[in-house]
Amino acid sequence: MSQITQSRFRHTPVLVDEVCELLINDLSGVYVDGTFGLGGHTKALSSLLNADATLIGIDQDQTALAQFTPSLVQQTLHLVCTNFENLKQILGDLKINKVHGILLDLGLNSFSLDDPERGFAFSLHGPLDMRFDRSNELTAEIVVNTYSQEQLADVIYRYGEERNSRRIARRIVEMRAQKRLTRSDELKQAVARSVDPRFRNKSLARVFQAFRIEVNREMEVLSSVLDSAIELMVPGGRLAVISYHSLEDRMVKMHFRELSQDIPRQPGMVDEEVKVPLLKRITTKPVVALPGEASVNPRARSAKLRVAERTTHATK
Ligand SMILES: C[S@@+](CC[C@H](N)C(=O)[O-])C[C@H]1O[C@@H](n2cnc3c(N)ncnc32)[C@H](O)[C@@H]1O
Repeated sequence: MSQITQSRFRHTPVLVDEVCELLINDLSGVYVDGTFGLGGHTKALSSLLNADATLIGIDQDQTALAQFTPSLVQQTLHLVCTNFENLKQILGDLKINKVHGILLDLGLNSFSLDDPERGFAFSLHGPLDMRFDRSNELTAEIVVNTYSQEQLADVIYRYGEERNSRRIARRIVEMRAQKRLTRSDELKQAVARSVDPRFRNKSLARVFQAFRIEVNREMEVLSSVLDSAIELMVPGGRLAVISYHSLEDRMVKMHFRELSQDIPRQPGMVDEEVKVPLLKRITTKPVVALPGEASVNPRARSAKLRVAERTTHATK
């Protein structure tokens, strides 16, 4: 591969020191990087862990995983190309029962965002694709051309929190009646024609985010991995999640809050009212990037890190 091609694969990991400090609880433990990307966080963890620690890197993007040179880490490293929602199965296949840390650095990496062929960025011209895993069937083109007007409005409102969702959905349906929409610029046009020009870029960002979340089932897979992570961690093991938009952060916050509830049994209470804390929140407020990091890495500006620790209580 030429140097020019290689340089396309760039991604600056965010909150690296904070992740290492808050995630590591056993220098010889087993750590899962569920969103391996180019391995920036894994490399940083590796540099602090003992040689007998184990690292598991998961990413559903084979192109990302293929860029990593495993000899860069001294520990045993398992790289697995799949969705992190399959974490339980992956650990089962590796004959690993419990782990000491799980990191999820959500969203997409910079080189995918910058690649017009992936269709993620409204500022680039590309196909309406938006799949993290290019072997999946559902693309943004299918969503845009086959969902009903009501379904489109629902996706845009729910996952983009865009107020003009109905108007944008109507415009998409009008445009696709003339011709199937296949390019990101066509979606961009539908949005641009439906909103106040002063807020156009904000609306574009929201709508593109909404379709990306729908195509990749992002909220569903996050909810599922948060549920399964509990039973996969040793007591004292930690789960660290970096999110980049409010929907994800809200889901993580609520999940950590709910599972850290401690409501002892009182006379007259039914079983459902009694809560045993399965998690202890290590961060009550999200950790955000210091101004120095945010000024050199634009991705870091929206990053929010939340960390919780597995308690000794057994799951029901
Ligand atoms: C923000 S990047 C992570 C960058 C990484 N921390 C690094 O230092 O290079 C997110 C990565 O997670 C992957 N990803 C997102 N959702 C995923 C999922 N549900 N399962 C597996 N990988 C996922 C994306 O393909 C992308 O490579």
